[in-house]
Amino acid sequence: MIKVILNGCCGVMGGVVTELVEAEPEMEIVAGIDIKDNGKTEYPVFGSLSECSVPADVVIDFSSAKAMDSLIAGLKEKKIPVVLCSTGLSEEQLQAVQELSKECAVLKSANMSLGINLMFKVLKMISPMLSEAGFDIEILEKHHHRKIDAPSGTAIALADAINDSMEEKFKYTFDRSSIRAARDPKEIGFAAVRGGNIVGEHDVIYAGTDEVITISHQAASRAIFAKGAVAAAKFLAGKPAGFYDMGDVVNV
Ligand SMILES: NC(=O)c1ccc[n+]([C@@H]2O[C@H](COP(=O)([O-])OP(=O)(O)OC[C@H]3O[C@@H](n4cnc5c(N)ncnc54)[C@H](O)[C@@H]3O)[C@@H](O)[C@H]2O)c1
Repeated sequence: MIKVILNGCCGVMGGVVTELVEAEPEMEIVAGIDIKDNGKTEYPVFGSLSECSVPADVVIDFSSAKAMDSLIAGLKEKKIPVVLCSTGLSEEQLQAVQELSKECAVLKSANMSLGINLMFKVLKMISPMLSEAGFDIEILEKHHHRKIDAPSGTAIALADAINDSMEEKFKYTFDRSSIRAARDPKEIGFAAVRGGNIVGEHDVIYAGTDEVITISHQAASRAIFAKGAVAAAKFLAGKPAGFYDMGDVVNV
Protein backbone atom coordinates (compact mmCIF):
# COMPACT_ATOMS: atom_id res chain seq x y z
CA MET A 1 0.00 0.00 0.00
CA ILE A 2 1.44 3.41 -0.99
CA LYS A 3 0.85 5.95 1.80
CA VAL A 4 0.26 9.52 0.61
CA ILE A 5 0.32 12.91 2.36
CA LEU A 6 -1.75 15.46 0.41
CA ASN A 7 -0.56 19.09 0.62
CA GLY A 8 -3.43 21.53 -0.09
CA CYS A 9 -5.93 18.77 0.75
CA CYS A 10 -8.89 21.13 1.33
CA GLY A 11 -8.58 22.91 -2.02
CA VAL A 12 -10.41 22.09 -5.26
CA MET A 13 -7.64 19.81 -6.60
CA GLY A 14 -7.16 18.32 -3.12
CA GLY A 15 -10.81 17.21 -3.25
CA VAL A 16 -10.43 15.67 -6.72
CA VAL A 17 -7.27 13.78 -5.69
CA THR A 18 -8.95 12.55 -2.48
CA GLU A 19 -11.87 11.15 -4.49
CA LEU A 20 -9.58 9.46 -7.01
CA VAL A 21 -7.32 7.85 -4.39
CA GLU A 22 -10.40 6.42 -2.62
CA ALA A 23 -10.90 4.24 -5.72
CA GLU A 24 -7.22 3.12 -5.80
CA PRO A 25 -6.73 -0.31 -4.20
CA GLU A 26 -2.95 0.14 -3.66
CA MET A 27 -2.89 3.71 -2.41
CA GLU A 28 -4.27 5.60 0.58
CA ILE A 29 -4.11 9.17 1.88
CA VAL A 30 -2.83 8.93 5.45
CA ALA A 31 -2.75 12.68 6.20
CA GLY A 32 -3.51 16.06 4.67
CA ILE A 33 -1.78 19.41 5.04
CA ASP A 34 -3.73 22.66 4.75
CA ILE A 35 -3.88 26.03 6.48
CA LYS A 36 -7.64 25.61 6.79
CA ASP A 37 -9.31 22.30 7.65
CA ASN A 38 -12.74 22.05 6.01
CA GLY A 39 -13.60 19.09 8.26
CA LYS A 40 -14.64 17.00 5.23
CA THR A 41 -11.69 14.60 5.04
CA GLU A 42 -11.53 11.16 6.63
CA TYR A 43 -7.78 11.56 7.24
CA PRO A 44 -6.18 13.91 9.80
CA VAL A 45 -5.25 17.42 8.61
CA PHE A 46 -2.11 19.25 9.85
CA GLY A 47 -1.13 22.91 9.44
CA SER A 48 2.28 22.07 7.95
CA LEU A 49 4.34 19.04 6.94
CA SER A 50 6.75 19.62 9.87
CA GLU A 51 3.81 19.22 12.28
CA CYS A 52 2.65 15.99 10.60
CA SER A 53 3.77 12.90 12.52
CA VAL A 54 2.20 10.33 10.14
CA PRO A 55 4.76 8.30 8.12
CA ALA A 56 4.25 8.25 4.34
CA ASP A 57 5.88 7.09 1.09
CA VAL A 58 5.10 10.16 -1.03
CA VAL A 59 3.67 13.69 -0.85
CA ILE A 60 1.29 15.01 -3.53
CA ASP A 61 1.10 18.82 -3.61
CA PHE A 62 -1.72 20.91 -5.10
CA SER A 63 -1.56 24.06 -2.93
CA SER A 64 -0.05 27.40 -3.95
CA ALA A 65 3.27 29.18 -4.35
CA LYS A 66 2.64 30.71 -0.91
CA ALA A 67 2.72 27.20 0.60
CA MET A 68 6.03 26.27 -1.01
CA ASP A 69 8.55 27.55 1.57
CA SER A 70 6.86 25.66 4.40
CA LEU A 71 6.50 22.52 2.26
CA ILE A 72 10.17 22.56 1.20
CA ALA A 73 11.26 23.02 4.85
CA GLY A 74 9.16 19.98 5.88
CA LEU A 75 10.49 17.88 2.99
CA LYS A 76 14.09 18.72 3.92
CA GLU A 77 13.41 17.31 7.40
CA LYS A 78 11.50 14.21 6.32
CA LYS A 79 13.09 13.42 2.91
CA ILE A 80 9.85 12.05 1.43
CA PRO A 81 9.53 11.93 -2.40
CA VAL A 82 7.21 14.71 -3.63
CA VAL A 83 4.98 15.28 -6.67
CA LEU A 84 4.89 19.08 -6.98
CA CYS A 85 1.91 20.37 -8.95
CA SER A 86 1.48 23.93 -7.60
CA THR A 87 2.25 26.67 -10.13
CA GLY A 88 3.43 30.28 -10.00
CA LEU A 89 6.67 29.53 -8.08
CA SER A 90 9.26 32.36 -7.85
CA GLU A 91 12.81 32.01 -9.23
CA GLU A 92 14.06 31.55 -5.63
CA GLN A 93 11.50 28.80 -5.00
CA LEU A 94 12.41 27.04 -8.27
CA GLN A 95 16.05 27.14 -7.16
CA ALA A 96 15.09 25.73 -3.74
CA VAL A 97 13.19 22.90 -5.48
CA GLN A 98 16.33 22.05 -7.51
CA GLU A 99 18.35 22.00 -4.26
CA LEU A 100 15.73 19.78 -2.61
CA SER A 101 16.04 17.24 -5.45
CA LYS A 102 19.61 16.53 -4.28
CA GLU A 103 18.16 15.24 -0.99
CA CYS A 104 14.95 13.50 -2.10
CA ALA A 105 13.02 12.55 -5.25
CA VAL A 106 11.12 15.51 -6.74
CA LEU A 107 8.73 15.28 -9.68
CA LYS A 108 7.54 18.69 -10.83
CA SER A 109 5.20 19.43 -13.68
CA ALA A 110 3.06 22.47 -14.42
CA ASN A 111 0.58 20.13 -16.08
CA MET A 112 -0.02 16.51 -15.14
CA SER A 113 -2.24 15.60 -18.12
CA LEU A 114 -1.29 13.11 -20.82
CA GLY A 115 -2.49 15.50 -23.56
CA ILE A 116 -0.28 18.43 -22.57
CA ASN A 117 2.74 16.18 -22.12
CA LEU A 118 2.14 14.84 -25.63
CA MET A 119 1.78 18.44 -26.85
CA PHE A 120 5.28 19.25 -25.50
CA LYS A 121 6.64 16.59 -27.83
CA VAL A 122 4.66 17.82 -30.86
CA LEU A 123 5.81 21.43 -30.31
CA LYS A 124 9.46 20.38 -30.13
CA MET A 125 9.01 18.59 -33.45
CA ILE A 126 7.26 21.32 -35.46
CA SER A 127 8.51 24.64 -33.98
CA PRO A 128 11.99 24.81 -35.58
CA MET A 129 10.51 24.11 -39.03
CA LEU A 130 7.68 26.66 -38.72
CA SER A 131 9.91 29.34 -37.20
CA GLU A 132 12.37 28.89 -40.04
CA ALA A 133 9.45 29.32 -42.48
CA GLY A 134 8.60 32.70 -40.86
CA PHE A 135 5.66 31.72 -38.65
CA ASP A 136 5.17 33.85 -35.51
CA ILE A 137 4.45 31.93 -32.30
CA GLU A 138 1.88 33.12 -29.74
CA ILE A 139 0.31 31.33 -26.76
CA LEU A 140 -3.26 31.93 -25.60
CA GLU A 141 -4.49 30.37 -22.35
CA LYS A 142 -7.85 30.48 -20.56
CA HIS A 143 -8.65 29.55 -16.95
CA HIS A 144 -11.31 29.94 -14.27
CA HIS A 145 -11.69 33.22 -12.37
CA ARG A 146 -10.09 31.84 -9.16
CA LYS A 147 -6.66 31.33 -10.75
CA ILE A 148 -4.13 33.75 -9.25
CA ASP A 149 -1.04 33.32 -11.48
CA ALA A 150 -0.82 34.48 -15.11
CA PRO A 151 0.26 33.34 -17.58
CA SER A 152 -0.37 29.78 -16.46
CA GLY A 153 2.52 27.50 -15.52
CA THR A 154 1.46 25.30 -18.44
CA ALA A 155 1.69 28.21 -20.92
CA ILE A 156 5.26 28.88 -19.77
CA ALA A 157 6.09 25.16 -19.92
CA LEU A 158 4.77 25.05 -23.53
CA ALA A 159 7.03 28.00 -24.43
CA ASP A 160 9.96 26.31 -22.67
CA ALA A 161 9.34 23.16 -24.75
CA ILE A 162 9.45 25.29 -27.93
CA ASN A 163 12.67 26.98 -26.78
CA ASP A 164 14.25 23.60 -25.97
CA SER A 165 14.01 22.80 -29.68
CA MET A 166 15.42 26.13 -30.93
CA GLU A 167 19.09 26.91 -31.50
CA GLU A 168 18.45 30.64 -30.98
CA LYS A 169 16.23 31.09 -27.92
CA PHE A 170 13.02 33.14 -28.08
CA LYS A 171 12.28 35.83 -25.50
CA TYR A 172 8.91 35.86 -23.72
CA THR A 173 6.57 38.87 -23.93
CA PHE A 174 3.95 38.85 -21.18
CA ASP A 175 2.60 42.39 -21.62
CA ARG A 176 2.54 44.55 -24.74
CA SER A 177 0.58 47.46 -23.23
CA SER A 178 3.63 49.71 -22.93
CA ILE A 179 5.43 48.58 -26.09
CA ARG A 180 4.90 50.65 -29.23
CA ALA A 181 6.71 48.49 -31.75
CA ALA A 182 5.99 45.55 -34.03
CA ARG A 183 6.65 42.13 -32.51
CA ASP A 184 10.14 40.65 -32.68
CA PRO A 185 10.19 37.47 -34.85
CA LYS A 186 12.19 35.84 -32.03
CA GLU A 187 9.57 36.37 -29.35
CA ILE A 188 6.71 34.30 -27.97
CA GLY A 189 3.78 36.45 -26.88
CA PHE A 190 1.40 35.31 -24.11
CA ALA A 191 -2.26 36.20 -23.55
CA ALA A 192 -4.29 35.10 -20.51
CA VAL A 193 -8.08 35.02 -20.19
CA ARG A 194 -9.71 34.52 -16.75
CA GLY A 195 -13.39 33.78 -16.29
CA GLY A 196 -16.12 31.49 -14.99
CA ASN A 197 -15.17 27.88 -14.39
CA ILE A 198 -12.98 27.20 -17.44
CA VAL A 199 -10.80 24.27 -16.33
CA GLY A 200 -7.86 25.08 -18.62
CA GLU A 201 -7.39 25.75 -22.35
CA HIS A 202 -4.09 26.28 -24.17
CA ASP A 203 -3.60 27.28 -27.81
CA VAL A 204 -0.16 27.51 -29.39
CA ILE A 205 -0.71 29.63 -32.50
CA TYR A 206 1.72 29.53 -35.42
CA ALA A 207 0.75 32.52 -37.59
CA GLY A 208 2.34 32.62 -41.04
CA THR A 209 1.55 34.51 -44.23
CA ASP A 210 -1.96 33.50 -45.30
CA GLU A 211 -2.08 30.46 -43.03
CA VAL A 212 -2.39 29.74 -39.31
CA ILE A 213 -1.76 26.46 -37.51
CA THR A 214 -3.12 26.10 -33.97
CA ILE A 215 -2.18 23.26 -31.64
CA SER A 216 -4.86 23.20 -28.99
CA HIS A 217 -5.58 21.41 -25.71
CA GLN A 218 -8.75 21.69 -23.66
CA ALA A 219 -9.17 20.18 -20.21
CA ALA A 220 -12.82 19.21 -19.69
CA SER A 221 -12.35 18.21 -16.06
CA ARG A 222 -9.75 18.41 -13.28
CA ALA A 223 -9.70 14.61 -13.10
CA ILE A 224 -7.00 14.51 -15.82
CA PHE A 225 -4.57 16.37 -13.53
CA ALA A 226 -5.43 14.24 -10.49
CA LYS A 227 -5.02 11.06 -12.55
CA GLY A 228 -1.56 12.22 -13.68
CA ALA A 229 -0.57 13.12 -10.11
CA VAL A 230 -1.64 9.70 -8.80
CA ALA A 231 0.32 7.95 -11.59
CA ALA A 232 3.32 10.17 -10.77
CA ALA A 233 3.07 9.33 -7.04
CA LYS A 234 3.05 5.59 -7.82
CA PHE A 235 6.12 6.09 -10.01
CA LEU A 236 7.98 8.23 -7.47
CA ALA A 237 7.43 6.27 -4.23
CA GLY A 238 10.74 4.58 -3.35
CA LYS A 239 12.74 6.44 -6.03
CA PRO A 240 16.20 7.83 -5.15
CA ALA A 241 16.88 11.59 -4.88
CA GLY A 242 16.74 13.39 -8.23
CA PHE A 243 14.62 15.61 -10.42
CA TYR A 244 11.89 13.89 -12.45
CA ASP A 245 9.10 15.10 -14.75
CA MET A 246 5.94 13.69 -16.35
CA GLY A 247 7.99 12.58 -19.35
CA ASP A 248 9.43 9.92 -16.99
CA VAL A 249 5.92 8.69 -16.12
CA VAL A 250 3.90 8.83 -19.35
CA ASN A 251 5.31 7.07 -22.33
CA VAL A 252 4.74 9.70 -25.04
N1 LIG B 1 0.19 20.72 -12.35
C1 LIG B 1 -1.09 20.60 -12.73
O1 LIG B 1 -1.46 19.79 -13.59
C2 LIG B 1 -2.13 21.47 -12.06
C3 LIG B 1 -3.49 21.31 -12.34
C4 LIG B 1 -4.42 22.06 -11.63
C5 LIG B 1 -4.00 22.99 -10.68
N2 LIG B 1 -2.66 23.16 -10.48
C6 LIG B 1 -2.16 24.08 -9.45
O2 LIG B 1 -2.42 23.50 -8.18
C7 LIG B 1 -2.59 24.53 -7.21
C8 LIG B 1 -3.90 24.32 -6.43
O3 LIG B 1 -5.00 24.49 -7.30
P1 LIG B 1 -6.51 24.51 -6.73
O4 LIG B 1 -7.38 24.86 -7.86
O5 LIG B 1 -6.78 23.25 -5.95
O6 LIG B 1 -6.43 25.76 -5.71
P2 LIG B 1 -7.29 26.00 -4.39
O7 LIG B 1 -7.09 27.44 -4.04
O8 LIG B 1 -8.67 25.48 -4.54
O9 LIG B 1 -6.57 25.10 -3.27
C9 LIG B 1 -5.33 25.40 -2.69
C10 LIG B 1 -5.34 24.85 -1.25
O10 LIG B 1 -4.02 25.05 -0.70
C11 LIG B 1 -4.19 25.48 0.64
N3 LIG B 1 -3.02 26.19 1.15
C12 LIG B 1 -2.70 27.50 1.07
N4 LIG B 1 -1.56 27.75 1.74
C13 LIG B 1 -1.13 26.55 2.23
C14 LIG B 1 -0.02 26.15 3.02
N5 LIG B 1 0.91 27.04 3.44
N6 LIG B 1 0.12 24.83 3.30
C15 LIG B 1 -0.80 23.94 2.89
N7 LIG B 1 -1.91 24.26 2.17
C16 LIG B 1 -2.07 25.55 1.85
C17 LIG B 1 -5.43 26.39 0.59
O11 LIG B 1 -5.99 26.58 1.91
C18 LIG B 1 -6.33 25.59 -0.32
O12 LIG B 1 -7.12 24.65 0.39
C19 LIG B 1 -2.50 25.85 -7.98
O13 LIG B 1 -1.18 26.35 -7.92
C20 LIG B 1 -2.84 25.44 -9.40
O14 LIG B 1 -2.31 26.33 -10.39
C21 LIG B 1 -1.73 22.42 -11.13
